[in-house]
Parts: sequence; structure tokens; C-alpha cells
Amino acid sequence: MQVYDYLIIGSGVAGLNAARLLPKDKKVLLLCKKSPWECNTFWAQGGIATAVDEEDIAVHIQDTMTAGVDYNDKKAVEILSKNSLSSIHDLIQAGLKFDLNAKGNLAFTKEAAHSRSRILHADGDATGRMIHMFLIEQFPHEMLTEAVVSDLLIKDGICYGAQFFTSETKQKTVYAHNTIIASGGVGSLYKYHTNSTAIAGEVQGICIEKGIKLKDMEMLQFHPTVVKGTHFARKPLLSEALRGEGAYIVDEDNKRFLFDYHKDGELAPRDVVSRAIFDYAKKHKKGIFLSFESFEKNFFKKRFPNIYANLKDLGFELPFERVPISPAFHYTMGGIPTDTDGKVLGMKNLYAIGEAACTGVHGANRLASNSLLEGVVFSKLAVEHSLQNNFKISHENYTNKIKSYIRNQEIDKPIKDNLRRIMWDTAAIVREEDKLKQSLKTIEEYLQQEVGRLLYLRLLTAKAILEAAINRKESLGAHFLIRNEA
Ligand code: SIN
Repeated sequence: MQVYDYLIIGSGVAGLNAARLLPKDKKVLLLCKKSPWECNTFWAQGGIATAVDEEDIAVHIQDTMTAGVDYNDKKAVEILSKNSLSSIHDLIQAGLKFDLNAKGNLAFTKEAAHSRSRILHADGDATGRMIHMFLIEQFPHEMLTEAVVSDLLIKDGICYGAQFFTSETKQKTVYAHNTIIASGGVGSLYKYHTNSTAIAGEVQGICIEKGIKLKDMEMLQFHPTVVKGTHFARKPLLSEALRGEGAYIVDEDNKRFLFDYHKDGELAPRDVVSRAIFDYAKKHKKGIFLSFESFEKNFFKKRFPNIYANLKDLGFELPFERVPISPAFHYTMGGIPTDTDGKVLGMKNLYAIGEAACTGVHGANRLASNSLLEGVVFSKLAVEHSLQNNFKISHENYTNKIKSYIRNQEIDKPIKDNLRRIMWDTAAIVREEDKLKQSLKTIEEYLQQEVGRLLYLRLLTAKAILEAAINRKESLGAHFLIRNEA
């Protein structure tokens, strides 16, 4: 029986960077649920945050804590920021090209809740895609695509690997001395989201099944600006960097209303802006738009070439036609609980990194562009820790029971659709306890049905979100409760 040194689940920045940093003589297998670019990194637009210099570390830490409403794990935030300079330097040394300014220096932009310009970007507004392509080019190990993980082999605090299936095989088992979960968050549990459609929280569901209690699952981030009214499953994102560069939000009468909600207007923390849009649209029954009137004529196309092209394709007359917007699910702050080496709490050789993990670094609301940075920094720390630890499994200790059917098309489809709808209606931007409880009841009923394995796992994760939201009785950051009227 072949045993890999490392099994990596997921092909976003965290998984690919871990693979890049693992020595070439290690036997490493990376599993992608679909194609390698079906991950959230590929769609990340605005950029990657970093402390600009040693003096900025303290400020970046403070901005991250303030956006996270001080609910962050301070140690994780310090590690993130202190490692940012070397991690970015390492990527640049390895050949990653960020955009430069007219003087040939790194071009930093600003995004909401950052007190200075410290976001690096690539190809203007395709930072995630450029990082992803770079890491794919560098990928030195074995990769399997269309490989859907259906179970983790866990016994007594040790992970022996995973079970997965591909379109060609029914089920396969892979054993590994170390397993790294980098499978992203939970976007496709929601009706409106900006995520890859492959991202649906299934590996989180497996963790729940194995007795790993997810952390902070009520902390989910909704991006304020996606293009409203498109038919795509993944909603087109309008990067926060647009607002960082001067675009602003207006109602249909061209009134800028965000300053009524927060002194920083468009550049207030993301949870505040999303809630303000939601509230204003509901109260005033008005359409909300992103306006580019403040841009110089040629600026939009030059600085945001990909967003510009997408909007043109959607029929907008740019550079100055305003675009209808609404918030949509964007990012999972909670997840599989880990220490700051990425090691899953209570486990010896199981790691979780990137959006799948919860180190507590983002607190109750992630600061813009800290996610790609998190993937880069914590993948490095997990690799270093696991190499030092040098844990070896004896796979004979694990007998694997094959799980039954993966999908049950007939039953799954309507449940999946309703799941997305009820999560959006009740566990999104504003929440009411009664409605959360009603959704929980529905999900518990679904869990009693003969659903396919993957939907079952999604339902477990959705249940964890609802329970966490019900258990947090006061609003905090992205978790915003409104009281039921008496
Ligand atoms: C954006 O470009 O607005 C997304 C950046 C992020 O989610 O951090």
C-alpha cells in the first residue's frame, strides 16, 4: 500500500503554496474537487494585503483587529502581519509579478478599513488569478483533478488520509503521513455568493462527523458590491479596490447615503457597508448603485481591466454608467479550529489552512485582502511545523469502511436549492432568532432523508452555522441580530 508524505485537499492559494514549499523529494498528492482553478483564489480581485514596512506592522495589526471588532486571536493577527513582509518577498523572489507604479516600485492600493495603502495587486484587478497561475506553474508534485473527498480517515487524534471518488472510479483511499485541508469555505451554501461553485463546506461537514467542533461558524462575511441581477450562480464581484480608488455607492437618486451609517462612508468595514446597503434598500425601497463618476476618463480601463471588460460584456456603458449592486456571501471567517501552526486542535497530523481554517485571525469581520495573505502565511507555517514534527502513520491501524452513494440526484436537487435559499433568507446579513431556529428545524428534517453523501455533509455544515448563530445572543461584527417584535 502506497503512503504519501502529504495529502493536500484543495487548490487555492493555501494548498498550492503549501505544495510549493514542500521539498521536491516528498511524496505529495493534491486533490482538486473539480479543475484546479475551481477555487476562491482564482476569483480574488482586489489584492493581497501586507505590512508595507516594519513600522506598518503595528498599524496593520490594529486595522485587522478593528475590522474584526477585537474578537480576533491577537497572536494569530501578529503572526499574520509579522510574516507578511517575508512571505511577500519570498513570492516575489520566486518570480511572482505584482503591479508596479510609474517609478517602478510596488504599487500599493487602499481598501476599506485600511488606514493606509498596503494592498498589492497583479494584472490590475486579477490578483487571485495571477497568484493562482503562478503557483500552478510552480507546482512540483502530483495532482488529481475531479477528485471529490468524501471522508477523512480519522482515529484517536490521527488522520490516516482520505477517501475520495473521481468520475472514473467509485471510491479510492489515499493514506498519508500528513493531511492538509485547504478546501475553502462554504460559499455555495448560499443563494447569492461570489465563490467558486465547487466550494460548499463539505470537508467541514466531515470534520463535524469526526467530532471536530467548528469554530465561529456564525462569522460569515458578505461583500457589499456584486453586480445585481445577473443569472450566474457565482455573482460578479466589484472589488473593494474600486471604492479604495474613489468609486462610491449611491441610491437611484444619486444620493451617497453611507455616511449616515458610518463616518468612513464607502471605506467603512465590510460588514458595516453590507448592512447599510441592506438596511437602506429595505427602508427606502430604492435601487443601489456603484458610481464611477469620480474616475478620470481612462482610469477605469487601465487600473481595473478585467472588471471593465466584464462589465462591458454585461452591457454597461463605461467608464461612467453606474452599476446596480447588492451584497452577496463572500468569505467564511469561522472554520476548522487550528493553532497558529495550522494544526487542527486535538489532532496530531491534520492541518487546516486558508479559508477552511479558523485560527481566529479575522475575528468577527475580515479586513479586506487579508485572505490571500492568510493563505500564504499559514501554509508556510503548517509546512514548517509538519516537517519538524515528521509524524508517521502506520496505516495498518486504520480499517476503512466505504461510505455509500455520493449523490442522490432526485432527492438532492430540490433540497440543495432550498438549503441555499433558507441560508440566504435567515443566516445572512441580518438574522432573527426565530427564523434561524426554523431553518435549523428544516435542516434537521433534511438530515433524516436519504440524501447523497455530499449533500449530507453540506447539511451538517449548514447546521453548524445555524447553531452557532442561534447560540450567539448578541450582535458582533458580521453576526447581526435583529430582535423579534413582541
Ligand atoms: C475585493 O476585491 O473586494 C475582495 C478582496 C477581499 O475579499 O479581500
